[in-house]
Amino acid sequence: MRDEILSIDDLRSLARKRLPRILWDWVEGGAEDEAGLVRNRDVYAAERLLPRYGRDMTGRSLATTLFDRQYDLPFGIAPTGYTGLLRPGGERMMLAAADAANVPYLLSGVSAASLEDIASASPGRAWYQLYPARDSAISLDIARRARDAGYDVLVLTVDMPVEAKRERDIRNGFTLPLRYTPRLLWDGISHPAWTLSYLTSGGLPALGSWSAYARPGATPAEVATFQFAQKYPVQTWADVEDYRRLWPGKLVVKGVLHPEDANRAISAGADGIIVSNHGARQLDRAITSLEALPLIRAAVGDQAVVMLDGGIRRGADIAIALASGADYVFAGRAILYGVIARGEAGANEAFGILRDELSRVMAQLGTLSIADLGPDVLVPRARA
Ligand SMILES: Cc1cc2nc3c(=O)[nH]c(=O)nc-3n(C[C@H](O)[C@H](O)[C@H](O)COP(=O)(O)O)c2cc1C
Repeated sequence: MRDEILSIDDLRSLARKRLPRILWDWVEGGAEDEAGLVRNRDVYAAERLLPRYGRDMTGRSLATTLFDRQYDLPFGIAPTGYTGLLRPGGERMMLAAADAANVPYLLSGVSAASLEDIASASPGRAWYQLYPARDSAISLDIARRARDAGYDVLVLTVDMPVEAKRERDIRNGFTLPLRYTPRLLWDGISHPAWTLSYLTSGGLPALGSWSAYARPGATPAEVATFQFAQKYPVQTWADVEDYRRLWPGKLVVKGVLHPEDANRAISAGADGIIVSNHGARQLDRAITSLEALPLIRAAVGDQAVVMLDGGIRRGADIAIALASGADYVFAGRAILYGVIARGEAGANEAFGILRDELSRVMAQLGTLSIADLGPDVLVPRARA
């Protein structure tokens, strides 16, 4: 049997082999029973598509426009924290893959690479995702830096009022900086490729955008500890209004699941929302983003750009999300698996797989363009 990479799941298997268990569990895990992780996939599996034949499908296009900019694909990269810990230089690899695919890359608020580095490496490519800090002067300053660095889109993540109960992480004693225990050493020894790249790149990467706020000369571990202590501040819609006043570009609120919150975000000044349950990492019993999407679309109409993430592993999932009303889709783990497994090449492979699958699905559905992916490609019964 040939060992080919055919699917995102194949990249997942490679990623799993490479990463120490403690990090793999952090990437893969969800909250509490992890029932949400299963549902995030099951909702896509429950949908049925309605093929149409007898049309010439040559020249079909996956290009789409988002915030007045043309992208080659209707899906981009969702923000994932500490990508540079999972693969040294990981953020730059994601950026390069986003450049190659011509899609947006959402740089996480907890990235190893600094926001200025990413902006100057590829001007206009990345959006900046901001986590508010307990000391609001810090997060407002980060937003100003993002503005000065030339980011066009600021993404405020609102779905982390408290620390989620992720039992894998609690059992593993996962903290950043990593605590050196005999178990961690064994974990490292049994995953030598990752451990070698970690050690030769200097160990724990500093949180590039946060170094300025910890004490001068702080080590990467101290910066991580400082950032951790700034997590889970009170965050209200008034804060979104503050960012609206400060931010001249497009403002996006990520982590919306209730139609009234979607409208609240828009009245606070958001240009777009990302319907998301944070990859089932926050509230295990939360509604899935695919279930929330039609309700939110009905509530907001065309007042804002409505995007979605969560559970995307196949091109068909992207087609279903678009047909269910999303203007654009983001993949978190699907691209992350590629980076963890094979760096930039792996991220490119993930894009190649999803692009190819989506293109085939479109040919089967008789759709020549992304705009053609409307509700009529879904079997209505499956939505009951
Ligand atoms: C390892 C990991 C780290 C994440 N870090 C962030 C983050 O820093 N900021 C954020 O807004 N969302 C973060 N998310 C959530 C993703 O942006 C996205 O909502 C989620 O991964 C989508 O689900 P999917 O992984 O099934 O595609 C993270 C997700 C994962 C898996």
